[in-house]
Amino acid sequence: MSDLVERLLAAMTLQEKLGQLNMIDAALPTHAPDEMTRQVCAGLIGSVLNVYGAGTTNPLQQLALEQSRLRIPLIFGFDVLHGHRTICPIPLAEACAFDPPLWERTARIAMDEAGRDGITLNFAPMLDVCRDPRWGRIAEGPGEDALVASRYAEAKVRGFQGADLAARENMAATAKHFVAYGAPAGGRDYGSADISERELAEVYLPPFEAAVKAGVAAIMPSFNDLAGIPMTAHGALLKDLVRGRWGFEGVLVSDYNAVGELIAHGVAEDLAEAAALALAAGIDIDMQDQAYLLGLPAALDRGLASVADIDRAVRRVLTLKQRLGLFDDPYRRVAAPPLSLDTLAQYAEVARDAGRRSIVLLKNERGALPLKPGAQRIALIGPLGDAPLEMFGCWFAAAGLEAASILDGLRAALPQADISHVPGVTVDGDDQGGIAEAAAAAHDADTVILSLGESKDMTGEAHSRGHIDLPGCQRALAEAVLALGKPTIAILTHGRPLALPWLFERADAVLATWQLGSQAGHAIAEVLTGAWNPSGRLAITWPLDGGQIPIFHSHRPTGRPGHNDVFYSNRYTDMPVEPQFPFGFGLSYTRFRLGSVTATPEFAPGETVTVLAEVTNEGALEGEETVFLFLRDPVASIARPVLELKGFAKVTLAVGERQTVRFILQGDDFALLDRNMRPRVEPGAFEILVGPCADRSRLSSVTVRCQSA
Ligand code: BGC
Repeated sequence: MSDLVERLLAAMTLQEKLGQLNMIDAALPTHAPDEMTRQVCAGLIGSVLNVYGAGTTNPLQQLALEQSRLRIPLIFGFDVLHGHRTICPIPLAEACAFDPPLWERTARIAMDEAGRDGITLNFAPMLDVCRDPRWGRIAEGPGEDALVASRYAEAKVRGFQGADLAARENMAATAKHFVAYGAPAGGRDYGSADISERELAEVYLPPFEAAVKAGVAAIMPSFNDLAGIPMTAHGALLKDLVRGRWGFEGVLVSDYNAVGELIAHGVAEDLAEAAALALAAGIDIDMQDQAYLLGLPAALDRGLASVADIDRAVRRVLTLKQRLGLFDDPYRRVAAPPLSLDTLAQYAEVARDAGRRSIVLLKNERGALPLKPGAQRIALIGPLGDAPLEMFGCWFAAAGLEAASILDGLRAALPQADISHVPGVTVDGDDQGGIAEAAAAAHDADTVILSLGESKDMTGEAHSRGHIDLPGCQRALAEAVLALGKPTIAILTHGRPLALPWLFERADAVLATWQLGSQAGHAIAEVLTGAWNPSGRLAITWPLDGGQIPIFHSHRPTGRPGHNDVFYSNRYTDMPVEPQFPFGFGLSYTRFRLGSVTATPEFAPGETVTVLAEVTNEGALEGEETVFLFLRDPVASIARPVLELKGFAKVTLAVGERQTVRFILQGDDFALLDRNMRPRVEPGAFEILVGPCADRSRLSSVTVRCQSA
């Protein structure tokens, strides 16, 4: 521990210590300026959230540094999930790029912009694996797979934190929400997660462990309980696992009001008990509800908490402030010169690149895409066609931002085309009065583009949906337009996969464009016109119907594997078992062929295995292919998933070009958790399956054998 931290700790009163653990939402009326000022000056607030910009953060910092007794600088926390001023695609969209260097690049620009606005602690990345698209927060995370989420975690931590936390452009990242928040019962936000120890270890913990290994500075426990234990009070996972076994030395910051909510969870009688439980579980910073400030004094009196635990938490908070360089130069980040127009243009280019790489082409028939160049009449129909704000998705905060709408993008990319836009209906209203006008516009056009989907407020926190289809009267609008039989392209704007089998059947082309941020319209236009050959692949299995949820590629086999036509099998009587699109699915304007796959045939436990796969571009356009490597352990002491993702790689191939993709599987990749939850590699055969998505019929396989030790 540093001298400075110890000196400060020794000089602190109990109230000042609790103040360091107290994080307050400065945007809330309960903390009107007077109350903020009083508490900051009294040393009763150690960090602040939800404000940004030198005009707001500097005066508060100044109060802490000049008016509080110990002059300890404040941390400013904020949710910068996918951009601050330059908004990039929502995380679920960006995951579909399967591109860790891109994930890191977008994190860096977010940090640079947010840092100049005084933010020192980012409440991101969000690492909740999720297999339930009803859950609104699926939009904020990297999808359904533990390996993808782990690579995403590493890239984002690297991007947000850089090599040195103290450097002007870097700030602390928070891996959230620990853990299993993405598995709430019924898909409803904040709900209980009751999953097995094995599922927890195999699916939900790995991304957080990856973030810890990457050096993440903070972790936020989730709102939910896990099998009856609220995560905010889960000592076994927070202290024994994260701090103990993983060696995490950073700060645990509660979620918003989560300490006080231990009362509503039914595990604490009052604030004192709630605060004592959270502190005992290892939570350092109490976000917003002042449970520590108000509850811990009583908890100490009642013998429920100890000063030693409080001191440990304060040390960690002060250490973070020191690591951030705040004691040396608390204003350094906001004092940075404003970003030049050149830099902003480069950032816009990164957002555009991220946007086009996140788009997934789901269907393309009758040569619908790319659009032909030159003069033509295009009718852009639907409520999201010219809706710039809707392009941002959840979690964007800087006020006054502008985004390119789909209409803006089309007009810029196709200056000779005659493009009309008719919304027809609103996203979720019940007025069908505009449908006739929309159908008339479509009737007069050469090409129809339907812009359909969800508004930005339909995903994100507290925005779960029971029906994952098109809200409002959008289906009626689409059907009126599709009935004309014109070449019709559907562009979906959405924060979750939407179950729309009728649209996938009837539209000629469908693009999943998610919510792509500031450059959305331009990114979409690049794909529509073929300026960018679509390369996104689904980071989540796309259900045919909400009734299939949860549906994901790495499920286990059963004694009676699901066949639609076999009665006594793991199936439905009223819908197929297959998803609409498998994990990894995505079309291109060119054609790739996977050639031979070879692998080291035999290996001993702990040895690496090299897998080589040949890919050729057999189409007429340059393009990027994503190659997935899955493992299948057909006979083991524990039933293994039908497919386990162990690697993915991207290759750019010119027309006619062939490349060999190389994967190196580590010894651990072959391990399972045995019946005693201990990792073990079991000798025997393993199937390695390589291909473009998690559809078994499209994978090439090779069998390797692990010898007995
Ligand atoms: C969310 C967190 C977020 C926090 C602060 C909570 O409601 O669950 O993800 O970081 O608010 O904004």
